[in-house]
Amino acid sequence: MKVGIPRESHEGERRVAGTPGTVQQLVKMGFEVVVERDAGAGASLPDAFYAAEGATLVDAATVWGESDLVLKVRPPTLDEVAQLRQGATLISFIWPAQNAALIEALQARDATVLAMDCIPRISRAQKMDALSSMANIAGYRAVIEAAAVYGSFFTGQITAAGKVAPARVLVIGAGVAGLAAIAAARGLGAVVKAFDTRAAVREQVQSLGAQFLELEVEEDGEGGGGYAKVMSEAYIRAEMELFLAEAAETDIVITTALIPGRPAPKLWEQRAVEAMRPGSVVVDMAAEQGGNCDVTVPGEAVQHAGVTIIGYTDLSSRLATTASQLYGTNLLHLLRDMGGSPDAYKVDHEDEVVRGALVLDQGALMWPPPKVEAPPPAAAPKPEVKPAPVAAAAAPATPAAPVKPKKSPVAAIISLALVGLWLFLRFSQGDAMVSPASARFLEHLTVFVLACFVGWQVIWSVTAALHTPLMSVTNAISGIIILGGMLQARGSPGAAAVILGILAVLFATINIAGGFLVTQRMLKMFRR
Ligand code: NAI
Repeated sequence: MKVGIPRESHEGERRVAGTPGTVQQLVKMGFEVVVERDAGAGASLPDAFYAAEGATLVDAATVWGESDLVLKVRPPTLDEVAQLRQGATLISFIWPAQNAALIEALQARDATVLAMDCIPRISRAQKMDALSSMANIAGYRAVIEAAAVYGSFFTGQITAAGKVAPARVLVIGAGVAGLAAIAAARGLGAVVKAFDTRAAVREQVQSLGAQFLELEVEEDGEGGGGYAKVMSEAYIRAEMELFLAEAAETDIVITTALIPGRPAPKLWEQRAVEAMRPGSVVVDMAAEQGGNCDVTVPGEAVQHAGVTIIGYTDLSSRLATTASQLYGTNLLHLLRDMGGSPDAYKVDHEDEVVRGALVLDQGALMWPPPKVEAPPPAAAPKPEVKPAPVAAAAAPATPAAPVKPKKSPVAAIISLALVGLWLFLRFSQGDAMVSPASARFLEHLTVFVLACFVGWQVIWSVTAALHTPLMSVTNAISGIIILGGMLQARGSPGAAAVILGILAVLFATINIAGGFLVTQRMLKMFRR
């Protein structure tokens, strides 16, 4: 089965649908790979690198005319479709709702078409979610574009020549792109505020070190599947007032607000631009969908009242090497999902990821896909907050059902055995109980049984997320054990109490040292 990777023909597009790394994987999976000459030039990936990984370098006509499966970034032009082999498969961004003529042309070629922009946003499909990969890169790049135009540092500085205040950044829309922009701006040292209609993202915003702005109007923007819903007019008006009030205090605005399939809501009005200080910057990431800002010109950077408004629509392409690598990997995961080898390759309609992305199957229109029933809301609506690394946080996952720690039957069996032993000793010895030695032993056994039972219950019932603070508590307990062990170890050498005391000191010391080591390792993961 021949996989073809053409050079992107769209003016200024630097990405490519496969890198030497992903080509190597495709070859390993058993595909024959042909790559158009200079396909990777815009992403600094020379032809020789592809050839070294087993690809054959060919011209455009060969890629389009001889491939069974064409992998591409942008939707193909009608000229390219005309060269596509009859009955071949195409996987690329398609935007079927906006490209009726393209779909018709592909139908005429009996093509099978999967749209990377239609991959459903479900947990299992995150590794194939090219929209999120690209939005993550674009959010980062939006900050870099703003920094290149902004006339000062992002981080505050106190120098011998004077004090420089940090840049004040406002991010509107905290989806994938917005969260990436917040992380990048915070990384550069800016003071960041963010706003989103979905209250669920508040914790994610705050965990990145930004302030989450709130409105007095009570209305949640959650529209399901990590996407927003259209807000009421009153809400949008209140939002605009909030932004107008923030404008004079903001140096850089990055707008990413979007509701899928809708024109972008207008949120940053002309008067908000005019309220900003000259030298300020607006990056309107929603420019392609009409823009969140009144004065945005899609694809261009323009000036208004001394403020630069950037409406670039190729932000991910401006980081072409990484964008190609992540996009190529998304494609690779999709092909693995579709079988992973030429023999097992299948367009499986039962696979909800494949079905969601399938636009044409051998020329038959399959789009839009049937609606997937959303899982019923959990009984307890409290969201479970998971700390996540930035890239992962960027991808909106479907909320996971809260995981309850499984109670092990071993706990119950051991507890019952200890209680049984205590009862046996207490009642089987009759008059012997009057002996002080037996009474003392029984007293110790009672404490031991209770300690085991309470300790087991406490540790087993604590959720995994709280194990680190729990370790501090167990360290304190281990400290007490060491003291008790040292007191017991004072007796004559060889006595049972002394040996047990020494063992207690040894194990408690291991527990404390191990606890510190594990805590250090965990803290290291959060240090930059
Ligand atoms: P997303 O759907 O993950 O995030 C959009 C966010 O906007 C959501 O969190 C939503 O709740 C929020 N939102 C919707 N209405 C709002 C309102 N009225 N006020 C405040 N927040 C609101 O989308 P993603 O993937 O983060 O993309 C964001 C934007 O960036 C899109 O417009 C996308 O097309 C664009 N984009 C632009 C690129 C470029 O080169 N310019 C490249 C990649 C993405």
